[in-house]
Amino acid sequence: KPLRLVVLLGSLRQGSFNAALARALPDLAPESVTITALGSIGDFPHYDADLQAAGFAPAVVAMGEAIAAADGVIIVTPEYNYSVPGVLKNALDWLSRMSPQPFVGKPVAIQTASPGGLGGVRAQYHLRQILVFLDAIVLNKPEVMVAGVASKVGGEPSLLEDQAARAFVAGQLSAFADFIRRFRDA
Ligand code: FNR
Repeated sequence: KPLRLVVLLGSLRQGSFNAALARALPDLAPESVTITALGSIGDFPHYDADLQAAGFAPAVVAMGEAIAAADGVIIVTPEYNYSVPGVLKNALDWLSRMSPQPFVGKPVAIQTASPGGLGGVRAQYHLRQILVFLDAIVLNKPEVMVAGVASKVGGEPSLLEDQAARAFVAGQLSAFADFIRRFRDA
């Protein structure tokens, strides 16, 4: 059965390296797996329970519904100060208040990219901790972090072009598809 995956991007920056990684994913997907981008988390207001009581913003509702309908979510994000960017945490906080909560039982894979030498890997364990409370089912391995990403992208709009990095990412996508099917068939 075909799988439909969606990508949640943790950067709002126009020239984002993580966006360049995210844009490469559809081409790197295994057979019968489609990968599409979710909307921008930049359209989410700052989380405020009073705002929530007045009604969820359309961008939040649309993303929650898209996640609920998907077979899995790939979170592609920068590392900020050894953790996840505040905008990503804000988005996850909003989504976590939806009912039904879209991440419950949802397979999630994590990818980070950074110009630095560790590829944003330190953010991944903070993100995994958040996803525990959201009750997502997170792929353990392979972990994907793209270090030194500035020299691995090219084109306009920019795309992850480095062949070794692309193969590394494709390996995770293949493992993620197997992981989702294993849970589904269990
Ligand atoms: C960073 N950056 C960064 N990089 C990293 O590898 N580890 C880190 O802890 C941080 N911390 C950090 C904090 C803040 C506030 C900023 C703005 C940046 C650098 C970061 O990886 C770089 O800006 C990337 O280009 C951000 O990802 P996008 O927007 O290109 O996808």
